[in-house]
Amino acid sequence: MRQVKTLGLLGTGVIGAGWAARALHFGINVVAADTNPGMQEWLSGAVANAHGALARLTLAPLPPPGRLSFTTDLDAMARQADFIQENIPEQLALKQRVLAGVSRVAPADVVIASSTSGLMPTDLQRDMQAPERFLVAHPFNPVYLLPLVELVGGRQSSAEALAAASEFFTAIGMHPLQVRKEVPGHLTDRLQEALWREILHMVNDGTATTGELDDSIVYGPGLRWAAMGTNLIYHLAGGETGMRHMLRQFGPALKWPWTRLEAPELTEQLIDRMVEGTQAQAAGRSIRELERLRDDCLVGIQQVLRQYDIGAGSTLRKLEQRLYAQHAARVGTAAAGAAGRAADGATGGVRFECDVRPEWVDYNGHMSDSRYLQVFGDATDALLRAAGVDDAYRSGGHALYTVETHVTHQAEARVLEPLEVRTRVLGVDDKRVHLFHTLQRRLEGVLVATGEQIYLHVDTAAGRAAPMPAGLRAALEQQCAAQAREPLPPQAGRRVALPGA
Ligand SMILES: NC(=O)c1ccc[n+]([C@@H]2O[C@H](COP(=O)([O-])OP(=O)(O)OC[C@H]3O[C@@H](n4cnc5c(N)ncnc54)[C@H](O)[C@@H]3O)[C@@H](O)[C@H]2O)c1
Repeated sequence: MRQVKTLGLLGTGVIGAGWAARALHFGINVVAADTNPGMQEWLSGAVANAHGALARLTLAPLPPPGRLSFTTDLDAMARQADFIQENIPEQLALKQRVLAGVSRVAPADVVIASSTSGLMPTDLQRDMQAPERFLVAHPFNPVYLLPLVELVGGRQSSAEALAAASEFFTAIGMHPLQVRKEVPGHLTDRLQEALWREILHMVNDGTATTGELDDSIVYGPGLRWAAMGTNLIYHLAGGETGMRHMLRQFGPALKWPWTRLEAPELTEQLIDRMVEGTQAQAAGRSIRELERLRDDCLVGIQQVLRQYDIGAGSTLRKLEQRLYAQHAARVGTAAAGAAGRAADGATGGVRFECDVRPEWVDYNGHMSDSRYLQVFGDATDALLRAAGVDDAYRSGGHALYTVETHVTHQAEARVLEPLEVRTRVLGVDDKRVHLFHTLQRRLEGVLVATGEQIYLHVDTAAGRAAPMPAGLRAALEQQCAAQAREPLPPQAGRRVALPGA
């Protein structure tokens, strides 16, 4: 199977656009195909709308974004794509016909996946050419923020295609959940539908409104589900003997049962109650407005879960580790280039790039003070990673701690402005590194700030300074030597004082 550089999309509605936004953000080119030419404009709008929340998801350095193109010619898409994701309406015959057509154009080593919410992969792959490369990859709305993707193979699907899909989805920050056997609705939609059926019954018989039923989840189970899901949470609810006690206590209720399996008749009255109820909950807010609120909450929740390395937070943490490693590889190349340029007398140093994110600016519209430290910290991380200080190094019990910082501000950094930091090693000894950062506007080359820092090499278990290993010191000394002939920046070594004081 191929390395995925270009994702082909079939259908660019809600789900297709979500895939596009996620893939582009993580550096994958997207060729989007939809039979309705009007979807081109809609797609660009949806991708732009997703960007705000996606940009806040992680501060880890991202690869350059992918390029988006649109076509109404499905075959043209199929000729260019390394991986195809189908997102057309949920109709078996339509999907079978379109998948079969595309499979006759896409080379056999291109994986083809369907976003279907509940159709079976064996049925979908029936008429395809090279059906072994097909699987269901069921995502969740908004695809650009929720990491879950259910992977389901059909009778003809190969283990190789499932593994390749899993690798690709992981690379774009997702959590692939391998479903053991194909069943209608896969795993999650069966659970969601059970809950929804009961909601419809309770609204229908006047037990509760849509808002009250949503409150019953939002203030309670919804909060704990994000961390642990139903089963582990029930294990905790059973006290010391856990799930066994829980089943003894509440098991009999399952037989009564409290809930109903058959959905109620969707009468006009029930539809009206559902619509009026949710409109009252929306309280005049538009879908776009509510989407932004939902997305902000989803970003915040994942960032909290990351601190505890649990659920979707664990996926985010692993994604960040990969992004930092990839960045270090890119910076390594840039550093080698910079050392070459330094030898020619040009300004060198290890380069770190970022853009001023909207939440970084203060009431003046300029980047807040604390963000300068963050950007310099990220630049230091990039330099140290290139010298070998990575997660494995830190788990081995050593790290570098900041002991002194001096920032000078030369010009403002405005929202969304592309910035670049060049970091130079001014000195290294047994336990200390002396760094100098030059922060400038990437496009105009205007100096924005400088940062000068001393870092101390520490034995983290003992909690005290410790000598650096020879390899790390040599790597830092090499960086230092590469620019030793360049003049010292005028801000280097300056003390903070009023003139003449
Ligand atoms: N909406 C959700 O929450 C959700 C979640 C997960 C999975 N899904 C699944 O994703 C798929 C798409 O759902 P959606 O909500 O994005 O639908 P949608 O109606 O928003 O989008 C479907 C798109 O497919 C296009 N289309 C129709 N026929 C086509 C054809 N022959 N070739 C190319 N494009 C064609 C339409 O023009 C439209 O833009 C469905 O299978 C659905 O079950 C939906």
